[in-house]
Amino acid sequence: MIQQIKRYALVASLLILSGCAVREPGAWETALVYQAKRNITVGGTKDANPLAASEENIHAGQKIFGQYCMVCHGLDGQNTGVPFADRVSPPVPALNSQNVQRYTDGQLKWIIERGIFPSGMPASRGMLSDEEIWELVLYVRHLPTKGSLGEPQVYK
Ligand code: HEC
Repeated sequence: MIQQIKRYALVASLLILSGCAVREPGAWETALVYQAKRNITVGGTKDANPLAASEENIHAGQKIFGQYCMVCHGLDGQNTGVPFADRVSPPVPALNSQNVQRYTDGQLKWIIERGIFPSGMPASRGMLSDEEIWELVLYVRHLPTKGSLGEPQVYK
Protein backbone atom coordinates (compact mmCIF):
# COMPACT_ATOMS: atom_id res chain seq x y z
CA MET A 1 0.00 0.00 0.00
CA ILE A 2 2.73 2.44 1.03
CA GLN A 3 4.64 1.30 -2.04
CA GLN A 4 1.59 2.06 -4.13
CA ILE A 5 1.21 5.54 -2.65
CA LYS A 6 4.89 6.24 -3.17
CA ARG A 7 4.47 5.14 -6.73
CA TYR A 8 1.53 7.46 -7.33
CA ALA A 9 3.33 10.39 -5.73
CA LEU A 10 6.28 9.79 -7.96
CA VAL A 11 4.17 9.42 -11.06
CA ALA A 12 2.50 12.71 -10.18
CA SER A 13 5.81 14.48 -9.90
CA LEU A 14 6.99 12.90 -13.13
CA LEU A 15 3.91 14.28 -14.81
CA ILE A 16 4.76 17.72 -13.60
CA LEU A 17 8.36 17.35 -14.68
CA SER A 18 7.77 15.79 -18.06
CA GLY A 19 4.23 16.61 -19.18
CA CYS A 20 4.23 20.29 -18.42
CA ALA A 21 7.71 21.15 -19.56
CA VAL A 22 7.35 23.49 -22.50
CA ARG A 23 11.06 23.98 -22.84
CA GLU A 24 13.44 21.09 -23.52
CA PRO A 25 14.16 19.25 -20.30
CA GLY A 26 17.75 19.76 -19.18
CA ALA A 27 20.22 16.90 -19.04
CA TRP A 28 20.11 16.59 -15.25
CA GLU A 29 16.35 16.67 -15.29
CA THR A 30 16.23 13.90 -17.86
CA ALA A 31 18.75 11.87 -15.87
CA LEU A 32 16.67 12.34 -12.73
CA VAL A 33 13.47 11.26 -14.39
CA TYR A 34 15.20 8.19 -15.81
CA GLN A 35 16.66 7.27 -12.48
CA ALA A 36 13.24 7.49 -10.86
CA LYS A 37 11.69 5.44 -13.64
CA ARG A 38 14.35 2.74 -13.40
CA ASN A 39 14.18 2.45 -9.65
CA ILE A 40 10.55 3.11 -8.80
CA THR A 41 7.92 3.55 -11.48
CA VAL A 42 8.84 0.98 -14.12
CA GLY A 43 8.09 -2.58 -13.02
CA GLY A 44 9.09 -5.95 -14.41
CA THR A 45 12.67 -5.48 -13.23
CA LYS A 46 13.37 -9.14 -12.61
CA ASP A 47 11.55 -10.70 -15.58
CA ALA A 48 14.02 -12.44 -17.85
CA ASN A 49 13.66 -12.73 -21.59
CA PRO A 50 12.79 -16.38 -22.32
CA LEU A 51 13.92 -16.03 -25.94
CA ALA A 52 17.48 -16.53 -27.14
CA ALA A 53 19.20 -13.64 -28.86
CA SER A 54 19.31 -15.58 -32.11
CA GLU A 55 19.51 -13.94 -35.51
CA GLU A 56 16.00 -15.23 -36.19
CA ASN A 57 14.43 -13.78 -33.04
CA ILE A 58 16.14 -10.41 -33.46
CA HIS A 59 14.97 -10.28 -37.04
CA ALA A 60 11.43 -11.12 -35.96
CA GLY A 61 11.62 -8.20 -33.53
CA GLN A 62 12.90 -5.92 -36.24
CA LYS A 63 9.94 -6.84 -38.42
CA ILE A 64 7.39 -6.06 -35.71
CA PHE A 65 9.22 -2.86 -34.91
CA GLY A 66 8.96 -1.85 -38.57
CA GLN A 67 5.17 -2.16 -38.29
CA TYR A 68 4.25 -0.89 -34.85
CA CYS A 69 7.03 1.35 -33.65
CA MET A 70 8.57 2.83 -36.76
CA VAL A 71 6.27 5.87 -37.04
CA CYS A 72 7.80 7.34 -33.91
CA HIS A 73 11.12 5.54 -33.48
CA GLY A 74 12.23 5.14 -37.10
CA LEU A 75 13.16 1.74 -38.52
CA ASP A 76 16.44 1.79 -36.62
CA GLY A 77 15.04 2.78 -33.20
CA GLN A 78 17.05 5.97 -33.41
CA ASN A 79 14.39 8.26 -34.86
CA THR A 80 15.91 8.36 -38.33
CA GLY A 81 13.53 10.25 -40.62
CA VAL A 82 10.91 10.90 -37.90
CA PRO A 83 10.14 14.60 -38.33
CA PHE A 84 8.64 15.30 -34.89
CA ALA A 85 10.92 13.12 -32.74
CA ASP A 86 12.65 15.99 -30.95
CA ARG A 87 9.67 18.34 -30.98
CA VAL A 88 7.40 16.36 -28.68
CA SER A 89 7.71 16.57 -24.92
CA PRO A 90 9.37 14.45 -23.73
CA PRO A 91 11.24 13.87 -26.98
CA VAL A 92 11.35 10.39 -28.50
CA PRO A 93 14.59 8.95 -27.13
CA ALA A 94 17.13 7.06 -29.22
CA LEU A 95 16.52 3.53 -28.02
CA ASN A 96 20.22 2.70 -28.06
CA SER A 97 20.92 5.56 -25.64
CA GLN A 98 22.28 4.74 -22.21
CA ASN A 99 19.11 5.93 -20.51
CA VAL A 100 17.07 3.33 -22.34
CA GLN A 101 19.65 0.55 -22.38
CA ARG A 102 20.01 0.74 -18.60
CA TYR A 103 16.53 -0.71 -18.17
CA THR A 104 16.48 -4.45 -17.57
CA ASP A 105 14.90 -6.68 -20.23
CA GLY A 106 11.86 -7.08 -18.00
CA GLN A 107 11.48 -3.32 -17.67
CA LEU A 108 11.65 -2.86 -21.43
CA LYS A 109 8.89 -5.42 -21.80
CA TRP A 110 6.85 -3.65 -19.11
CA ILE A 111 7.25 -0.33 -20.94
CA ILE A 112 6.30 -1.74 -24.32
CA GLU A 113 3.31 -3.55 -22.82
CA ARG A 114 1.88 -0.62 -20.90
CA GLY A 115 3.21 2.39 -22.74
CA ILE A 116 4.19 5.53 -20.89
CA PHE A 117 1.41 7.83 -19.80
CA PRO A 118 1.06 10.74 -20.54
CA SER A 119 3.74 10.86 -23.25
CA GLY A 120 3.03 9.60 -26.75
CA MET A 121 4.42 6.13 -26.09
CA PRO A 122 1.41 3.81 -26.61
CA ALA A 123 0.69 0.47 -24.92
CA SER A 124 0.97 -2.73 -26.97
CA ARG A 125 -0.89 -5.02 -24.63
CA GLY A 126 -3.74 -6.74 -26.41
CA MET A 127 -2.17 -5.96 -29.77
CA LEU A 128 1.03 -7.95 -29.49
CA SER A 129 1.65 -11.32 -27.84
CA ASP A 130 4.15 -11.86 -25.03
CA GLU A 131 6.47 -13.55 -27.48
CA GLU A 132 6.29 -10.65 -29.91
CA ILE A 133 7.07 -8.18 -27.15
CA TRP A 134 10.09 -10.22 -26.06
CA GLU A 135 11.23 -10.22 -29.70
CA LEU A 136 10.93 -6.43 -29.66
CA VAL A 137 13.07 -6.33 -26.52
CA LEU A 138 15.72 -8.36 -28.34
CA TYR A 139 15.63 -5.93 -31.24
CA VAL A 140 15.98 -2.94 -28.91
CA ARG A 141 19.10 -4.65 -27.52
CA HIS A 142 20.55 -5.21 -31.00
CA LEU A 143 19.73 -2.08 -32.96
CA PRO A 144 21.49 -1.52 -36.28
CA THR A 145 23.73 1.46 -37.02
CA LYS A 146 21.81 4.73 -37.12
CA GLY A 147 20.43 5.40 -40.57
CA SER A 148 21.36 2.00 -41.97
CA LEU A 149 17.75 1.00 -42.63
CA GLY A 150 16.77 4.26 -44.32
CA GLU A 151 13.75 6.40 -43.52
CA PRO A 152 10.19 5.14 -43.00
CA GLN A 153 8.22 5.17 -46.25
CA VAL A 154 5.37 7.04 -44.57
CA TYR A 155 7.43 10.23 -44.35
CA LYS A 156 8.71 10.28 -47.89
C1 HEC B 1 3.10 7.36 -31.20
C2 HEC B 1 4.53 7.34 -31.06
C3 HEC B 1 5.20 6.09 -30.52
C4 HEC B 1 5.03 4.78 -30.92
C5 HEC B 1 4.12 4.24 -32.01
C6 HEC B 1 5.94 3.99 -30.12
N1 HEC B 1 6.62 4.80 -29.24
FE1 HEC B 1 8.08 4.21 -27.91
N2 HEC B 1 8.22 6.11 -27.25
C7 HEC B 1 7.52 7.21 -27.71
C8 HEC B 1 7.83 8.36 -26.90
C9 HEC B 1 7.24 9.76 -27.07
C10 HEC B 1 8.75 7.92 -25.92
C11 HEC B 1 9.34 8.74 -24.78
C12 HEC B 1 8.49 8.46 -23.57
C13 HEC B 1 8.94 9.11 -22.32
O1 HEC B 1 10.15 9.33 -22.15
O2 HEC B 1 8.07 9.39 -21.50
C14 HEC B 1 8.98 6.51 -26.18
C15 HEC B 1 9.83 5.71 -25.43
C16 HEC B 1 10.10 4.38 -25.68
C17 HEC B 1 11.05 3.58 -24.94
C18 HEC B 1 11.96 4.08 -23.83
C19 HEC B 1 11.21 4.34 -22.58
C20 HEC B 1 11.82 5.42 -21.79
O3 HEC B 1 11.65 5.44 -20.56
O4 HEC B 1 12.47 6.28 -22.39
C21 HEC B 1 11.03 2.32 -25.47
C22 HEC B 1 11.85 1.12 -25.05
C23 HEC B 1 10.05 2.34 -26.55
N3 HEC B 1 9.50 3.61 -26.64
C24 HEC B 1 9.77 1.26 -27.35
C25 HEC B 1 8.74 1.25 -28.29
C26 HEC B 1 8.35 0.09 -29.04
C27 HEC B 1 9.03 -1.26 -28.96
C28 HEC B 1 7.30 0.46 -29.81
C29 HEC B 1 6.47 -0.42 -30.74
C30 HEC B 1 5.75 -1.50 -30.15
C31 HEC B 1 7.04 1.88 -29.58
N4 HEC B 1 7.93 2.31 -28.64
C32 HEC B 1 6.06 2.61 -30.22
C33 HEC B 1 6.65 7.21 -28.78
C34 HEC B 1 6.20 6.09 -29.45
